[in-house]
Amino acid sequence: MAIARAEGYREGLVDLAAGRISREIFVNDEIYRQELERVFARSWLFVGHESQIPSPGDFFVSSMGEESVILCRDRAHQIHVFLNSCRHRGMKVCRYDEGSTPVFTCPYHGWSYSTDGKLVGVPYFREAYRSKLERSQWGLVEVAQLYNYKGTVWATWDPAAPSFLEYLGDFVIFLDLILDGRDGREGQAEVLGGVEKWLIPCNWKFPAENFSGDSYHNISHRSVDLAGIGPSGSGRRDTAELMIGRKLHVCIPDRGHQTIVYVLPKDLPPPPTYQHSSVVSEYFRHCEEERRRTRGDQARLMGAPGEIFPTAALLPRQPRTLAVWHPRGPHQTEVWRWFFVDRDTPAEVKNFLREYYIRYSGPAGMTEQDDMENWNYAHAASRGTIARRHPYCYEMGLGCAVEDYKWEGLRIPGRVIDITQAQSSEEPMRNLYRRWAQFMEADSWAELASWRRADTAAAALRPTGT
Ligand code: FES
Ligand code: FE
Repeated sequence: MAIARAEGYREGLVDLAAGRISREIFVNDEIYRQELERVFARSWLFVGHESQIPSPGDFFVSSMGEESVILCRDRAHQIHVFLNSCRHRGMKVCRYDEGSTPVFTCPYHGWSYSTDGKLVGVPYFREAYRSKLERSQWGLVEVAQLYNYKGTVWATWDPAAPSFLEYLGDFVIFLDLILDGRDGREGQAEVLGGVEKWLIPCNWKFPAENFSGDSYHNISHRSVDLAGIGPSGSGRRDTAELMIGRKLHVCIPDRGHQTIVYVLPKDLPPPPTYQHSSVVSEYFRHCEEERRRTRGDQARLMGAPGEIFPTAALLPRQPRTLAVWHPRGPHQTEVWRWFFVDRDTPAEVKNFLREYYIRYSGPAGMTEQDDMENWNYAHAASRGTIARRHPYCYEMGLGCAVEDYKWEGLRIPGRVIDITQAQSSEEPMRNLYRRWAQFMEADSWAELASWRRADTAAAALRPTGT
């Protein structure tokens, strides 16, 4: 038998036509090193929310890929994202999770930076540097592009990346499901409480593909479903939507974003929710009525788990959270989970939601501890010399996605599989890994922005008449 050589990424590891993906992409150290460069240094990443830094001088230390970054608001109220590394010898200039400061002072030799990133203090500048150091060239390293979308702050290190909205494409309506108010007003979300953070021993792609729309793993949540911790009476958190609506897998081709979404019938009111509290239930009933009134048919969309490529995971309804899967080496992931509410939600409702969110999510919550058992053991059991020779199976629903899906007059963008009967498909995972492989193979954003070529081709075919 020929002995395989250990090496990094190569074409064929992601074979979507056959529905097979090599375990190497999850466990190979060299592929991980390559993806930090090719995926994380080029894509748009979620950094934090503006409600975490309301005043000048406020900061929140976040992460982009493996690297620590500082999200802060300068004295002129501008938001910045800086690499958290001193330009002198690389020391972390900010070692707190969050806070407020007039300057970031490096603990090593004392260089200090203003909140707009300028180097403003150099000990012994006159004596040791003979006043010759050109301080304007030694400010903090800043991201190439930053975008504040309805309060959420996204950034990329790549100046050639398309704008954030172009990067999102038609997926924007699914991000809106978490950021817009429950009553349909634009951009009402704020962060509730702190950010939940924990480490899990698996590659970041395990949770990323799970939140892309793995509705096949419900057996893992059987015990919690039986315990009935759903907020809408007994059963799962989405039982009511399941009973009356269509359940879809929606993928945005060429972008790598995908989600589950429910579409409610045209003429039925939204199902009741949070029935364990009459105050909370009444609040959401009123919100949903308003949303139907102001958004019309669009309000029939009910959000469910989804993923913005590569690492931002949405859960727009119950609980309403956004998670990021920060890579910490090929065999470890640090999960950060933000929880959202509308900012003018009554205090009693916020408090009820806070308790529900904590009870439901994270390492001590009723779900996700069961998810993590799967991801952690699957990763460990895939690392062996023999195990990694055998690909995973991604054949479910192969060839079943359709364009231009409509139900009761509401058109859904992207490629869609209606899984109301089938319960699941692996189209979202194939969409995720198709994009991941494109990032691993393409040398430039000119190649990655394939939709621009399609637009150009369509424009060339359009008749130009008088
Ligand atoms: Fe920051 Fe030297 S490493 S001042
Ligand atoms: Fe799960």
